[in-house]
Amino acid sequence: MRAVVIRSFGGPEVLEVLEVPDPVPGPREVRIAVHAAAVNPVDAANRADGTWSSLRLPAILGSDFSGVIDSVGASVTEWRPGDEVFGAGAFRAGSQGTYAELHLADPETIARKPTNLSHVEAAAVPLAGGTAHSVIDRRLRVAAGERVLIHGAGGGVGVFAVQLAAAAGAKAIALASRKHHELLFELGASAAIDYRDRDALAIAQRLAGGEFDAVADLVGGSCLSSSLSSIREGGRAATIVELTGDLDLAIDRNITLHGVLLDRTDRTLFEELRTAIEAGRLRPVVSSVFPLEQAADAHRLLEAGHVQGKLVLSIRA
Ligand SMILES: NC(=O)c1ccc[n+]([C@@H]2O[C@H](COP(=O)([O-])OP(=O)(O)OC[C@H]3O[C@@H](n4cnc5c(N)ncnc54)[C@H](OP(=O)(O)O)[C@@H]3O)[C@@H](O)[C@H]2O)c1
Repeated sequence: MRAVVIRSFGGPEVLEVLEVPDPVPGPREVRIAVHAAAVNPVDAANRADGTWSSLRLPAILGSDFSGVIDSVGASVTEWRPGDEVFGAGAFRAGSQGTYAELHLADPETIARKPTNLSHVEAAAVPLAGGTAHSVIDRRLRVAAGERVLIHGAGGGVGVFAVQLAAAAGAKAIALASRKHHELLFELGASAAIDYRDRDALAIAQRLAGGEFDAVADLVGGSCLSSSLSSIREGGRAATIVELTGDLDLAIDRNITLHGVLLDRTDRTLFEELRTAIEAGRLRPVVSSVFPLEQAADAHRLLEAGHVQGKLVLSIRA
């Protein structure tokens, strides 16, 4: 099969398309003919130094996939060849990623692909959508009528977070570059503010009509510490990226802080996303599609920052 392999850590130039042996499924594995794989920041981090996933070289990168099961191990009874599935590869040391024509997966971690999406669209969902669902619905438990501030609203995770907060009946206040604002309003944002504007947080709070009940930080750094004073007493905040700054105000204001890491093995996240997508309440946003041979270009674009929604590699026509 063809796969994007790294034989050393480094910049996008270390991504090579190579012919490698087809993987053979073990008794409790399924083999997926991968049609599309999304490009995520964690893939770029793994490519750069491999430490996040304890990668051993050579390695195939990639987390998200959408494809068709092509064979199953002897003890797999719940899936059959021909089933269309999507998921986020559990990236353990020694396992291989999804930038490849074939991928082995644990049958308990994959879900049926949404019927109303193409493989390219479906591949954009698991990691980013699963993280947004974990933040907005499972940890912050955003409820109708609440005011929710979302940092990084135009990115891969952000476009799902905005839709999920709006679907919960909350006022979703989006912080994002101006070029994303039109899309964010279409996705259900009540207001959109450029985070570079002077007094962006004060403007956000004014447009929200009061202090925030919850803040979703999808950017990290000082975003959360600088937002604490705009959260009501007893409010909540969640982050998915490393923080800097002083968080003491969270104690004074009784704010609950959540650190969230996606559980890629929790298929119920993907099943719930599929239900929302098939019901028309949620949709992925794919801004560019690349063939496997241009994975390095996709990484360059991602690392330049400010991509809208997701970049996806199309692997099979
Ligand atoms: N904990 C987890 O389980 C988990 C899961 C998925 C992702 N992550 C991490 O979460 C982060 C977001 O992931 P993603 O896939 O959404 O990435 P992404 O698509 O690259 O989006 C990054 C976002 O950051 C925004 N941004 C960049 N610089 C900023 C700044 N100075 N101030 C405010 N916003 C800024 C960009 O906004 P504009 O385009 O509007 O400029 C963009 O929306 C990444 O660091 C990723 O590694 C963590």
